[in-house]
Amino acid sequence: MAITFEVIHKDIAGRVGKLRVNDKTVRTPALLPVVNPHLPLVTPREMREMGVEALITNAYIFRRSTEFHDRALAEGLHGVLDFDGVIMTDSGSFQLSVYGEVEVSNRDTLEFQQAIKSDIVVPLDLPTPPDAGPGRAARELAVTMERIREAQALFPDANLAAPVQGGIFTDLREEAGRAVRDLDFTFAPIGAVVPLMESYRYKELVQVVLAAKRGLSPGTAVHLFGAGHPSMFALAVAMGCDLFDSAAYALFAREGRYITPHGSLKIDELAELPCACRVCRSMTADELRKSEDRERLLALHNLHVTLAEIARIRQAIQDGTLWELVDERCRSHPRLLDGYRELLAHVAELERDDPVSKRRFFYRGSETCRRTEVLRFHEVIPRIPLGERVLVSFDGQGAPGFDTVLNFKPPFGPYPVELAETFPVGQSEVPEWDDDMVRSGCAGIRSLMEAHPESRFTVQCGEVWTRLVLEEVPDAEVLHEQV
Ligand code: GUN
Ligand code: ZN
Repeated sequence: MAITFEVIHKDIAGRVGKLRVNDKTVRTPALLPVVNPHLPLVTPREMREMGVEALITNAYIFRRSTEFHDRALAEGLHGVLDFDGVIMTDSGSFQLSVYGEVEVSNRDTLEFQQAIKSDIVVPLDLPTPPDAGPGRAARELAVTMERIREAQALFPDANLAAPVQGGIFTDLREEAGRAVRDLDFTFAPIGAVVPLMESYRYKELVQVVLAAKRGLSPGTAVHLFGAGHPSMFALAVAMGCDLFDSAAYALFAREGRYITPHGSLKIDELAELPCACRVCRSMTADELRKSEDRERLLALHNLHVTLAEIARIRQAIQDGTLWELVDERCRSHPRLLDGYRELLAHVAELERDDPVSKRRFFYRGSETCRRTEVLRFHEVIPRIPLGERVLVSFDGQGAPGFDTVLNFKPPFGPYPVELAETFPVGQSEVPEWDDDMVRSGCAGIRSLMEAHPESRFTVQCGEVWTRLVLEEVPDAEVLHEQV
C-alpha cells in the first residue's frame, strides 16, 4: 500500500507527523475539510491557498449526482474538484447510519472510489450508534471487519483506510483496533463518534478513542471521523489522533454560527469579530451580518479558525506544551472538562509515549498534578540513592546530622540538588504553593519512603504546611522549625 506515516515530534500521545499518500505529503495533525461538490462555499482551490493539504468528499454524492458522476469517472476527482493535494473519499456509511439504507455494496463503493481516483478509499463500514447494546455492537463490528478483509482481498493495491468501530464498548473498540493492526493498516479512522460529540459526551469519547488506540499500532495514522469543532482538537490530538475532517465550517456557516477555538457564537449576537483572519479584519460584525455573501464569508472565517487551531496544536507538540493547550481548551465547556479529567485518569498509558524532557511545564491548577510529567517523576524518584537519615527541606536549607538532604518542588516532590536544572524541576513554573500541589509533592515523598524502608525521613516544611504534611506523610518526622 502506498500510504506511509512517519512520526517526527511527540507530546503526550500526540504527534507531529508526515502522512505520505501517492507521493503527496500531508503534515499532521491535519484537518481535511469536507467538500460537497454541489455547495462549494469555499472552493478546493481556495482551501489549497489556505494551506490545506488534504480534503475529504463523499463518494456516495458523486455516485448519485447527475452533474458529477460521469465527469468524476472521466476526469478523476482531482480534475473535477481542481485540487492537487490528497483527496480522501468516504463510502457513504455515515449516510447509511443517519438516513437508513444505502443501495450500494462494499465492492461497488470500493470500485467506484478507485475509478474516480481517490487517494484514500474507505470500505462500507457500519457506524454503530451509541445507544446500541453490546450484542448489536459486536455483530456490526464483525460485519465491518469482514468488509475490511474483503476490501483487502479484492483490492490489495488500493490505499485503504480501516475504520475502527465497536459502539461505546471499550473492549470491542480495543479488539477492533487490534484486528486492524493485525491486518497491517497504516491508516485507521475511528468511526461512529459524531453522535457522542454532538451530545457533548466527551468522557465516553475519550474512553472509546483510548481503547481503540490501545489496540492499534503506534505507527498507524489515526483519523477521527467527523470531528470538526476546533475546541476538541487538542484533547483528541493528546490521545493520539492525527487527522480530522470537518464539515462544521460549512454547516455552522449555514446556521449563522461563528466558530472560535473555544466554542461557537451566533453571528446575530456578535458586536465584534474577535479574530485575526482576512474576513474579520475587513468588516464589522454588522457588515458581516448584513452581507449578501454572509454564508460564504462565515465559512471562510470558520475554516481559517479551524486551520489555525491545527497549526497551534502542531506548534504546541514541538514546544512540549500540549498539556497546557488541552487544559486551556477543555475549560471552554464543563463536558470537555469531563473529557480532560477522563484523559488524566488514563495518564499511566499516556506516560509511556510522553517525551522525557520538554521545554517547560506551567502549573495551571489541580489538574496539573495528574499530568504525565508528575507521574513519571513519582516513578523515578525511588531510584535516588539515599543515606540513612534523610531530610526533605521545603525551603532548600540543609542541616547538620543528615546523610542526604533533598529539596522539594511541588507538584513533583523531593529531588537532589543535582536535578535542580533538569526537566521537570528546572523548567517548571509554579505559582504560590497551594494544597493540591503540595499534596502531590507529598505523594512523591511517600514513593521515595516506600522504596527506602531502611532510611529515616524528616520533612522540614515550615509552619503553614505542617498539618497537611502530617496528614500526607504520617510516617515521617515533621519539623516546622529550622533544624
Ligand atoms: N463519518 C462520520 N462517522 C463515520 C463512520 O463511522 N464511518 C464512515 N465511513 N464515515 C463516517
Ligand atoms: Zn475571522
